[in-house]
Amino acid sequence: MTSGPQAAGQAGRMVRLADRDRPRVRFRLDGADCAALAGDTVLTAVLVSAPAVRQSEFGPERRAGFCLMGACQDCWLWQEDGGRLRACSTLIAEGMQLRTVPPEDWQ
Ligand code: FES
Repeated sequence: MTSGPQAAGQAGRMVRLADRDRPRVRFRLDGADCAALAGDTVLTAVLVSAPAVRQSEFGPERRAGFCLMGACQDCWLWQEDGGRLRACSTLIAEGMQLRTVPPEDWQ
């Protein structure tokens, strides 16, 4: 069963074509159930489930990372506790609760 951003009609930006036999890791993105594979970065995990990582703070655009190596700072996400993480250099972990918008915009 699929839930989360894909179930809501939002296709993921990335499509997983290979290496699909790793254990599943469950996480939540903006309150929706999502799944990734062990060893995925948070950026990969999110972009398999959603079209973007976060909203740009400078305009209406949505961001999906840029350098993929920890240099550009384009992939910051928020955790449920309000802390931030850089998605391209952080591995996904079971039970992570991630947000694509800053805490002041949570409803
Ligand atoms: S994509 Fe550039 S720092 Fe993460």
